[in-house]
Amino acid sequence: MNLNLKNKKVFISGSTKGIGYETARLFLDEGALVIINGRTKSSVDDALSKLNNKNASGIITDFLDDFQVEKLIDEIPDDIDILINNVGIFRGKNFCDETKEDWYDHFKVNLMSGVKLSKYFLPKMIKKNWGRIIFISSECSTLVPGDLLSYSVSKASVSVFSSGLAKLTKGSNVTVNTIVPGSTLSEGSKEFLSETAKRENKTKEEVEESFFKDVRESSLISRFLTVGEVANTILYFSSTLSSGTNGASIRVDGGSMGSII
Ligand SMILES: NC(=O)c1ccc[n+]([C@@H]2O[C@H](COP(=O)([O-])OP(=O)(O)OC[C@H]3O[C@@H](n4cnc5c(N)ncnc54)[C@H](OP(=O)(O)O)[C@@H]3O)[C@@H](O)[C@H]2O)c1
Repeated sequence: MNLNLKNKKVFISGSTKGIGYETARLFLDEGALVIINGRTKSSVDDALSKLNNKNASGIITDFLDDFQVEKLIDEIPDDIDILINNVGIFRGKNFCDETKEDWYDHFKVNLMSGVKLSKYFLPKMIKKNWGRIIFISSECSTLVPGDLLSYSVSKASVSVFSSGLAKLTKGSNVTVNTIVPGSTLSEGSKEFLSETAKRENKTKEEVEESFFKDVRESSLISRFLTVGEVANTILYFSSTLSSGTNGASIRVDGGSMGSII
């Protein structure tokens, strides 16, 4: 299968680690020109040296800082073909302990990063009559945990925004789709497994097993997804081969959400 991604210009927000990093790696394997992003020079430099590919470059931007986002929009090349709105933060807290800042921060990073970048790139993509905008939501937008309310609401808003944005592509070869991952073994999840295992004097395998028994019992694969499983899906829906799909939510959730579409 030829994804026709050679020389496509790609920007991936939040991509020094996890799903974003793996997506960058796969795009580079396909010959795309990829700009990665993270908050610090050291994390961006580390990721670039791991990627070790002349087609990779980086932009340091913290999406919590409006000034840095304006600067990013000034610096980033105009002719991005594929925008992956991947950056996402989550702070697990009881609702009553969540502060106003927790709510604002989740919306600023998880939703507004994609709103601002789409506002900049969508008209340019429409003008050249080709482009892909992908949003990364979460199974938490539907399977809402009581201790992840601001995260889950922000992710639901990402899905709604993406669906509405797709309407603006009517009659063009630009598509806007949402990828909805389930629990995925990114750096963050690995840390969670290790810390819980240590605290509960269990192995990581035991913690994973009880997570899928007690918290995500609806998961059909009953294990964490790999970052590669999510990134492969992102690549397909970024490619020319996916031209028939627009305004869709695509689940890579191991069956956890259980809906028929
Ligand atoms: N992992 C899961 O189980 C899961 C499930 C469903 C959905 N998702 C979604 O998938 C996406 C990727 O998650 P992940 O688990 O792969 O992430 P991750 O491993 O935690 O990596 C986070 C990435 O985002 C960057 N980042 C964090 N805050 C940032 C900010 N304010 N500005 C710019 N960059 C920032 C980090 O870069 P630096 O550290 O270099 O700044 C890092 O590259 C997120 O939208 C997440 O909500 C994840």
